Amino acid sequence: MSLDTVIAAQAGEKPGLKIPAHVAVIMDGNGRWATARGKLRTEGHVEGVKALRRLVDLAIRYGVKHLTVFSFSSENWRRPPDEVKFIFALLHRFVASDLATLIQNNVRVKIIGSRHELDDGLKRLIDDTQRKTAHNTGLELIVAFNYGGKSELLEATRRIAADVAAGRLQPEDITEQTVERALYTHGVPDPDLIIRTSGEQRTSNFLIWQGAYSELVFIEENWPDFSEETFVRALEEYSGRKRRFGGIDTRGP
Ligand code: IPE
Ligand code: IPE
Ligand code: MG
Repeated sequence: MSLDTVIAAQAGEKPGLKIPAHVAVIMDGNGRWATARGKLRTEGHVEGVKALRRLVDLAIRYGVKHLTVFSFSSENWRRPPDEVKFIFALLHRFVASDLATLIQNNVRVKIIGSRHELDDGLKRLIDDTQRKTAHNTGLELIVAFNYGGKSELLEATRRIAADVAAGRLQPEDITEQTVERALYTHGVPDPDLIIRTSGEQRTSNFLIWQGAYSELVFIEENWPDFSEETFVRALEEYSGRKRRFGGIDTRGP
């Protein structure tokens, strides 16, 4: 068993179920969920927020310590402007309306991604939310918004290069820790499990450095249909995996 996991039996959940310390979720399939029901894609995004609330509750109940959710990618700007605008407004509304509940539930919120394209109101809301929840000690909820793994590494590279150019850092002193400290996720352990819904089997530029050794679980349901049953199924699949991190399993066959 990985050091980062605990047996959930003592939490009163299914015996033998391993709870990853850090779960990351690619919440995909909102559009297809809506289209299949003759609804607008935007209605799928609204349902997606409800599924996100369910996921946060589940993460708290099952004792997950860090939960990262992918809610808007740096490539999602390729969508029609109206859909992009709607998703931005939805994030704004989610953070504003759920802040009190998140505080009540002792959740610490961190929002990762590029800030350049965000308007001042949203930037203020993000700073406020992070500040108001910074001292909470329960679940850490990391919202990847306007996030792309490649642009995260690019920003990190620029910051490290600036240190080298200023003579503060020698190239030979750059280590994995130097890169990790320059990422949005500094201080957060790597995800143990990455779940993607909607049947797609790719990572779409999500946590490309941090996910190097994450277990990947692909779920057929679209994101708005995500339930406790889906969550437990993903945890069961994770619990059956052997994580070797490049080594060998020394516990026999
Ligand atoms: C995920 O659902 C939400 C975002 C990417 C913002 P999609 O909107 O990608 O839904 P599909 O994949 O088109 O069904
Ligand atoms: C990934 O889903 C991004 C989010 C879930 C926010 P996409 O729907 O953007 O991914 P692709 O385009 O199918 O790879
Ligand atoms: Mg999609």
